[in-house]
Amino acid sequence: MSGDFIFANPASQHSEGKQARKIINQTKTFLYDFFHTNEKEFNLFFHSGATEGLNTVIHHYASRSQKENRPLILAYAQGDHPAVVETCRTQNAIQFILKRDTNGDYLHEENLSELKQLKSQNPDALILYHHLWVHNELGVVSPLSEVKRFKEIPDLFMSVDAVQSPGKHYHYRELENTFDYYTFSAHKFGALKGIGFSFSKMGNNLSPFMLGGGQQNKLRSGTENVMGVYSIKLALEDLQKIDLGDLLHKKSIVEDKLRGWLKGKGGIVADKARHRSLNTIYFYLTNLTSDIAVAMFDLSGLEISAGSACSSGAAKESEILLSLGYKEVAKNGLRLSLGFQFSQEELDHLLKTSEVLFPKIP
Ligand SMILES: Cc1ncc(COP(=O)(O)O)c(C=O)c1O
Repeated sequence: MSGDFIFANPASQHSEGKQARKIINQTKTFLYDFFHTNEKEFNLFFHSGATEGLNTVIHHYASRSQKENRPLILAYAQGDHPAVVETCRTQNAIQFILKRDTNGDYLHEENLSELKQLKSQNPDALILYHHLWVHNELGVVSPLSEVKRFKEIPDLFMSVDAVQSPGKHYHYRELENTFDYYTFSAHKFGALKGIGFSFSKMGNNLSPFMLGGGQQNKLRSGTENVMGVYSIKLALEDLQKIDLGDLLHKKSIVEDKLRGWLKGKGGIVADKARHRSLNTIYFYLTNLTSDIAVAMFDLSGLEISAGSACSSGAAKESEILLSLGYKEVAKNGLRLSLGFQFSQEELDHLLKTSEVLFPKIP
């Protein structure tokens, strides 16, 4: 350790190495407490972020289905994050696409009965069900209590993409202990980039995605990112102090105004969803694709994201807009996310700038 910088390898047996190990262990204890669970229920391991965490789970079931010579059903929705969709699509598995209604809410009844039927046709099948707790574009929150019933289906493993959950709704610390996996990317709530973590149900014997030194009880090889791990604890301690009610209040002010500004020019997507996040508004402008709109907002000092963009920055059709039936404006999705520290000054700036900008939009 030099100053506050934890430099040593946590596998080293010297005192600095032990200090690094201690920091990892303290963060693990903190995370179990923070999410109201414990090490009897779940293994907890760190990784580079949710893309890796989600891939680990999917690949585990792909290889288990091969080893046990059983079919694999992968259940997920169109418009889920590509870390899930692209990985599932490349597996030799039955793809079961979960349906959402036009508000972005899952059609649980329909999904449950169709999945049960599929399982009865494939009685040996393993099922990996991906539940997107908070949708990254829409900001729709899908409570865990609503998908609990899927666990009635035999051989179904529930994997929750919890990336957008921390700080985005009131119940983000309440994990459902009967579910199998929860995957987080810590940069989404203020920790360093390149660090994430997963809870993996004890007894599922998750196999590692990468082989190597067998760190983290063989769940994830590779030297642990001690500073990254430490930053998770710091970020969640800060997040705990955020007044989420105030965030929602500010979002509602913006959203009420936006409804007016968008009249005849666009609309808010998932406005009528049953549960929505505290900070995200997803909308479209009928006559502007998102790449043009983002540049326009940016020139006015407003940072708004395109719902979906190519690496070149050009607008591309958003899978979630397509799946909700917004074909005509599928390239026009825009996401306005209020940061956890969104201040009154930022709110005033947003409102003042938008008052001038929106009338200019065709
Ligand atoms: C819902 C969701 N899942 C998965 C990911 C992938 O996370 P990462 O890019 O940190 O690996 C993201 C990233 O934005 C996300 O929003």
